[in-house]
Amino acid sequence: MSKITVIGTGYVGLVTGACFADLGNSVMCLDIDQKRIDGLHKGIMPIFEPGLEEIVERAYRAKRIDFTTDYPTALKAAEYVFIAVGTPSGDNGEADMQYVESAVKKIAETIDHSFILVDKSTVPVGTGDWIAKMLQDRFADSGIKFSIVSNPEFLREGTAISDFMRPDRVVLGSTDRAASNKIAELYESLRCPILITDIRTAEMIKYASNAFLAAKISFINEIANICDRVGANVIDVATGMGLDSRIGPKFLNAGIGWGGSCFPKDVKALVHIAQEYGTQPQLLQAVIEINKYQRKYVVHKLEEILGDLKGKRIGILGLAFKPDTDDMRESPAADIIKYLDQKGANISAYDPAAMELSKAILPKQVTLCENPYQVIEGADALLLATEWNEFKQLDFEKIYQLMHGHVILDGRNLWDPQNLTDLGFHYYGIGLGQYN
Ligand code: UDX
Ligand code: UDX
Repeated sequence: MSKITVIGTGYVGLVTGACFADLGNSVMCLDIDQKRIDGLHKGIMPIFEPGLEEIVERAYRAKRIDFTTDYPTALKAAEYVFIAVGTPSGDNGEADMQYVESAVKKIAETIDHSFILVDKSTVPVGTGDWIAKMLQDRFADSGIKFSIVSNPEFLREGTAISDFMRPDRVVLGSTDRAASNKIAELYESLRCPILITDIRTAEMIKYASNAFLAAKISFINEIANICDRVGANVIDVATGMGLDSRIGPKFLNAGIGWGGSCFPKDVKALVHIAQEYGTQPQLLQAVIEINKYQRKYVVHKLEEILGDLKGKRIGILGLAFKPDTDDMRESPAADIIKYLDQKGANISAYDPAAMELSKAILPKQVTLCENPYQVIEGADALLLATEWNEFKQLDFEKIYQLMHGHVILDGRNLWDPQNLTDLGFHYYGIGLGQYN
């Protein structure tokens, strides 16, 4: 059993703290957001993540996890201090490091014993060295020993608990091999490959992994746009490609593109790092451009089908950037709604989990509905933006009766095109050329 402190109780920090507690460690989670901490003491989760509430509740009852906004309380007897605060995009794409800096400074001011600082947040290559410099200045001649380990997270929202408990790999980077070995012991019971390397390489593995996954999606979306024109079926293309073990079937689902708090931020940050070091990341820039185009593509498609969108009623199913999360950060649906609103369309929308967060970011004139059927009542077209399970088997006969027009634009290729065409809908997918 180890004494672990986690700074930041967001999508990454809270999952990390709860899972370490579930593995039997003693965990203290700190956040600067008092409301968030108060809620956690009452069992209120600050994020929508399937399975999280249960493991937090179990650990809290067993007194293996606690929550505070107070650094001295958080760091008392901590052997390992994990940083999982936000690293949002700055104006020109670079990672905004103010929160990491503030957390490191607070740790340096407060901690009174030797510790290992573990960076979980996605940070520019070289951050570990920068943190070490900050701490060296503070702890020189103090007798307090510290080491820095980079331990990037690979958690997907909606499956974060299983991604933590059954990871494909754990990556650790440090100048102090013994420190990496200590952190490796925390993950030993997960029985997964553990790669131990240096700090910059570990930081780079995170960016390179996310950038590659984003590139894979942008690739299939470019192929989908060609399939639309040549009359090919991108789903079968992806299946055919994915059977090649060098390609693999995952992350080849064509659609309105990638969003979330990581891909957009991390690909932009990697572009910025490359440019800062004097090289032009042409492929990464194309990956970003293709992704931006996918959002505009569906709006152009609706204009092509419906003509002038002014006054047209568009029903949108799904708002979160992907299913099984409430996260609206960089959600494709939010951008699409913005473009449709600019063209004067009347928009109604529904999402099973993201309604609260949507209120704060969608244009005020968007009608937020209670259920999918309310969204499409009188609609000229229905756009699927997020492939939630509850949209998989809607009552399409009922939908046909409720709609004014019968255009369906399936932004995630979720539904069966032939079935909907047979019901009388004008079905359009992304890359399903024969339904163009
Ligand atoms: C964050 C980073 O955005 C991501 O790049 C990294 O991979 C993991 O950590 P996430 O957990 O989604 O991801 O961040 P967010 O949901 O924004 O939560 C960050 C939390 O840190 C917030 O609760 C915020 O209140 C807290 N925080 C922020 C602090 O406790 N201290 C600070 O100084 C700043
Ligand atoms: C991602 C990485 O997968 C994870 O390893 C990293 O730690 C954080 O960023 P996340 O952003 O939570 O996780 O979701 P993910 O499932 O990767 O989806 C990202 C975006 O890509 C979503 O908008 C999703 O809709 C889109 N996507 C995903 C596709 O458009 N097609 C696909 O085939 C897969």
